[in-house]
Amino acid sequence: MNNKIKKYTIVTYGCQMNEHDSEKIAYILENLGYVSTNEINDTDFIIYNTCLVRENAELKVYGQLGSLKPLKKENPDMIIAVCGCMMQTGEAREVIQKKYRHVDIIFGTKNISSLPTLINRHLSTGNTVIDIEERDLIDNQIDMKRLHPFIGYINIMTGCNNFCTYCIVPYARGREDSRTPESILAEIKDLANKGYKEITLLGQNVNSYGKTLEKPVPFPDLLRMINAVDGIERIRFLTSHPKDLSDDLINAMAECDKVCNNLHLPFQAGSNSILKSMNRKYTQEDYLLLVEKLKEKIPNITLSTDIIVGFPGETEEDFEETLKVVKKVKYDQGFTFLYSKREGTKAAVMENQVDKNVAQVRFEKLLETMYEIFYENNSKYIGKVEKVLVEGPSKNNEEYLTGRTEGFKLVHFKGNKNLIGTIVNVKITNHNSFSLNGEMV
Ligand code: 5AD
Ligand code: SF4
Repeated sequence: MNNKIKKYTIVTYGCQMNEHDSEKIAYILENLGYVSTNEINDTDFIIYNTCLVRENAELKVYGQLGSLKPLKKENPDMIIAVCGCMMQTGEAREVIQKKYRHVDIIFGTKNISSLPTLINRHLSTGNTVIDIEERDLIDNQIDMKRLHPFIGYINIMTGCNNFCTYCIVPYARGREDSRTPESILAEIKDLANKGYKEITLLGQNVNSYGKTLEKPVPFPDLLRMINAVDGIERIRFLTSHPKDLSDDLINAMAECDKVCNNLHLPFQAGSNSILKSMNRKYTQEDYLLLVEKLKEKIPNITLSTDIIVGFPGETEEDFEETLKVVKKVKYDQGFTFLYSKREGTKAAVMENQVDKNVAQVRFEKLLETMYEIFYENNSKYIGKVEKVLVEGPSKNNEEYLTGRTEGFKLVHFKGNKNLIGTIVNVKITNHNSFSLNGEMV
């Protein structure tokens, strides 16, 4: 018998939802006796948790799988698995089965609990095994090996019903499905008992949480219930769709002391004709009104966003409207994307696809505009004292610690490692566009 300790490696692409799914995969593998390693050249089980949102992420996975071919030849016992959103599409599965025949296990986003069975089936037959049948129910959350000892991610819903015309997610992750408040609260209480300080509620479109439940519960009410859990100090949530952001949600954010004064509110594009063509169901004016309400009711709120540049039909004037929104809202953080054509979506067959070079120039202009605003926003923190949840040692300097403010600002400051996991007061002394520096007070 071979008693050598087996090692596993998880490579995760894409959003927090995938990161969270990888926490579940890690738990399963450790239960099977595997230990974690980042050494791809010396692992017994490698799994790619894939993303489909942009072509780049897909190409990277194919590139990595290709480069594993010689390794698999050398070490035929190594198991290679691919899961996540890409595996939800027949096209990607076919490519893998035809061109990457050294892949041993393929499964989808609702089959994570089948992994032990799949491993056994592969080991006993030597064949490539596939499972994409929907098995995992949202209320049966699998145990997980959380990446963080005091910040926890919690799935509150899956899927998306919005069908923004550029987006592949509704095709890959299916329709919206919400988890019951009882199941969510039980997980949060368990985390609180284990000493967790911060939780982030995850869903593709959390503002429409609860609509499909037997007894519908609106998202603001869920927030109020979670706010009442002792021990948890910070509550965040991702992602909000502007069309579903109700006045009651703004009220709940304002009234719940643990809900952070920070919101990720993707606007995608500034031009009304592009927004219409994206099927976003709000106008620039609607969006700006929402932001006005948020800033009025929640002083000090920080805002982040997602923006797509180069959507089909985007003219220079349309792009100027995007810059206009950026300048008006003065975001604290922004995720900017070059439009990526996804087969099967409505936008993929639209005329007037924007020239790549033109989009690139706009993209750079957008970044420049945003970075200036981030810099200006951060300068307003100088001299202020911020509550910082210490996440760990700073990457560049052993003597420094890194943490986040309630507004999700990254802060570096000198301090002892035993402060990790606690909330400390830091006076901000310096800044750049992406982070603050300070001293503990
Ligand atoms: N091309 C570029 N960006 C996209 N996103 C979603 N689909 C695409 C696409 N086809 C972006 C959106 C979304 C974020 C998660 O990814 O901005 O909010
Ligand atoms: Fe995609 Fe739009 Fe759904 Fe977000 S809301 S996941 S961008 S379809």
